[in-house]
Amino acid sequence: MTDISKVSKVPGVHSLDHFVLQVPDLNEAEKFYTTFGLDVQRTGNELKLGCFGQDHIWSIIKGGAERKKLDYVSFGIFKEDIDVFRERLEKYGIAPDETEQERIMFRDPCGMLVELRVAGKSSPRSKRTPQPMPCTVGGRGAPFRREIKQVHPQRFAHALFFTPDIKKTLDFYCTVLGLRISDEAGPIAFLHGIYGSDHHLVAFAESPSGGIGYHHSSWDVGSIEEIGLGAMQMEAAGYTGKGWGLGRHVLGSNYFHYVRDPWNSYVEFNFDIDYIPEGMYWEPNMDGPAPEDTLYLWGPGVPEDFVINYEAK
Ligand SMILES: [Fe+2]
Repeated sequence: MTDISKVSKVPGVHSLDHFVLQVPDLNEAEKFYTTFGLDVQRTGNELKLGCFGQDHIWSIIKGGAERKKLDYVSFGIFKEDIDVFRERLEKYGIAPDETEQERIMFRDPCGMLVELRVAGKSSPRSKRTPQPMPCTVGGRGAPFRREIKQVHPQRFAHALFFTPDIKKTLDFYCTVLGLRISDEAGPIAFLHGIYGSDHHLVAFAESPSGGIGYHHSSWDVGSIEEIGLGAMQMEAAGYTGKGWGLGRHVLGSNYFHYVRDPWNSYVEFNFDIDYIPEGMYWEPNMDGPAPEDTLYLWGPGVPEDFVINYEAK
C-alpha cells in the first residue's frame, strides 16, 4: 500500500468539530448523555451536547428516527485553507452537495455525509499534564464515596466510525482532508491532525456487515479515578449493557471505559491519550501491530459484538 501519510501535505482539517446522530427517542438520549456528565441542551427535537464550562457544541442528536443512524460528521478547517479543500475535492471527483463561503458539504467515497466548516480549533493544542493521584502518608488518599460528585467529561476527544472499505476511506481522508495515519491495525485505523492533535481525532473501522455508521464517541476526563467513578455513575443509573473496561489501549495509550448506549453504540471515558504536536512526523504502524497489541494492553476481554455495525442493514 502507498504510504499516504507521507504524501499528505498541508493543509488539513484541524479538528473533528462535531458529529450528528439521529435516534428514535430523544428523551432516552437526553437521560443517557446527562447521566454521562455532558452539558445537554434541548431545543425542540434536538439535543446539543457540550462540556460544562465550554461553549463548543460537540454533538447534535436529533429525535424521531426509525433507528439510530449517523447523520453527518463535521471537521473544522482554517479559513485560509478552504479553497485548497475545494480544489482537492474537485480533483478527487467529488461534487459538493452544498457549498457556502465558509462551508462545504459532500459525501465521501463510501457515502458518509461530511461537512468542512471554517471554525476555531477545538482539538487540544497541547497535551494536558495529568495530575498525580493522591497518595498520602499519615492521611486518607481516597475520598469517602458519600462525597463523590458526578463526573463531567472536560472535552470531546475523538469518534470512531464504520466504513465499508477502510482502504478507500484512508486514501480519501489522508489525501483530501490532510489527516495522517497514526496507526493501522487490520480493519481499524487511527488518524491525527497536522496542526497538533491527540493520537487520533477520528478513527475508522471496516464494518464486516458493510455500511457506514457511528461506533463510539470518546470524552476526556481528568484521571483514571474519574473513569472508574464515571463507569459507576452509569451503572447506578441502569446502563448495565455489555460495555468494555476499565483498560488501557496500546494504540493511543489511553485508559478507557466504554459504556453501551441505548442503541448498541458506545461512549468512552478517556484519559491520558498520546499527543502528536504540530510539525512532528509520527511513524505510523502501517503493517499493523502484533495481534496482542491491537486493542489493549490490559483490561477485560473485548465484547464479542464490539465491532458490529448495528446501523448496517
Ligand atoms: Fe476511543
